[in-house]
Amino acid sequence: MTNPFLSAAPASGGGCPAHAASAPVPLSGPAFHTEPQALYRSMRHSYGPVVPVELPGGFPAWLVIGYRELHQVTSDGELFPRDVGLWNQWEHIPEDWPLLPMVGRPMPSIYFTAGAEHRRHSRMVVPALEAADPFDIRRHCEELADRLVDDICARGTADLVAEFAEPLPVLVLARLVGFPDDEGADIARVLKDLADGGPGAQEAYGRFGAHMRRLVDVKRAAPGDDVTSRMLADPEPFTDEEYALDLMAITAAGHLTTADWISNSLRLMLTENEFAESLAGGRRSVGEAMNEVLWEESPTQILAGRWAVRDTRLGGRDIRAGDMVLLGLGAANTDPLVRQETGLGGAGRHAGNGAHLAFSHGEYRCPFPAQEIAETMARTGIEVLLDRLPDLELAVPAKDLVRRPSAFLRGMNALPVRFAPVQTTGDLL
Ligand code: HEM
Repeated sequence: MTNPFLSAAPASGGGCPAHAASAPVPLSGPAFHTEPQALYRSMRHSYGPVVPVELPGGFPAWLVIGYRELHQVTSDGELFPRDVGLWNQWEHIPEDWPLLPMVGRPMPSIYFTAGAEHRRHSRMVVPALEAADPFDIRRHCEELADRLVDDICARGTADLVAEFAEPLPVLVLARLVGFPDDEGADIARVLKDLADGGPGAQEAYGRFGAHMRRLVDVKRAAPGDDVTSRMLADPEPFTDEEYALDLMAITAAGHLTTADWISNSLRLMLTENEFAESLAGGRRSVGEAMNEVLWEESPTQILAGRWAVRDTRLGGRDIRAGDMVLLGLGAANTDPLVRQETGLGGAGRHAGNGAHLAFSHGEYRCPFPAQEIAETMARTGIEVLLDRLPDLELAVPAKDLVRRPSAFLRGMNALPVRFAPVQTTGDLL
């Protein structure tokens, strides 16, 4: 693939840090959306495992694309905490910088604290997620997935991103944290407005917080079998603002990521022969497609990030105190140093030396119970969809599918499909 900006970069260093290119790579442009793996390969060749990049607005950062280096950064939470307050660019960042909502600001939530304070939040949030009953989660997923299929099944056509993959995780998460279903539907709208950015985003953020503050009040008065009640039952004291921010973090962290896991897996099944068996009722290949996505098309391609506590060296680069270090999770997963192609399809393909980093690694990684919840939502959702609409096929040529215009998240704008119209579950009773 020709890569417009890498072809303009200085001469290749062949991956040797001593001769690696140094002109920063702009972290934007269509190549990130269409063929990021080809782009990461060119970067690895010209820049080595740690790439100087330029964020929109001209702000510098380091993108870690080597598996070993990414492992090193995420394993060392002392030297590289997820502490956005350390950033040495704050004085230059305008209030309306488009990446600000994603990069975040210091605030008292599990996602935006570091060190001892982050551990304090983790000790309250993670057990509350872990105690969710797997059978209940699966039951919620089946019920909500069935409802979403009911809304489209008589029509014979649908957009599986907007009408299935995006709403399902948020509706399930809303139930798990303790919302009644009608509020879950509003939270789905709020998160959509937030993801779309634009003028509605600020107002959506306000509504998101208001939902969570109300939920904290309701559950304090009448606890139930839900994540919020378990958080409130933890003996460690937190302010209402902290509870609300942690609930926002749980919902926001699990929403689009799981939606992209579902839609990227469905895309594979609908476009690649290797995974088509799942459409004919082969359950094994649902798991294989989902696994393939975590390696090849991780929903979180790039994560912001980590910030260096002091001057240090990484992958042959001089990192300064306060520099932003972006985690190239999608790139590290395909680093040839850890990948060993076996010639087998699906899961067998990835018999290399390490685990994938789609959920990151180390003390700030996606909590294990959250990963399990994500897996249940994605797998159950896909299984329900395929059971109900077994003759699903793409309604447009595969080449016309459009990726989300982001270097950070890998998903699709839409996944138009068609199928023979069928009755709703209500009609069958
Ligand atoms: C495919 C689905 C998912 C992916 C790819 C994913 C990925 C990630 C990543 C990359 C991080 C940041 C890790 C870091 O900074 O090193 C993260 C953090 C987090 N995720 Fe997930 N996630 C997914 C689903 C979920 C779900 C369903 C939930 C909630 C039930 C969730 C809750 C969280 C929380 C609370 C954090 C912050 C953890 C902390 O700071 O200790 N995630 N996730």
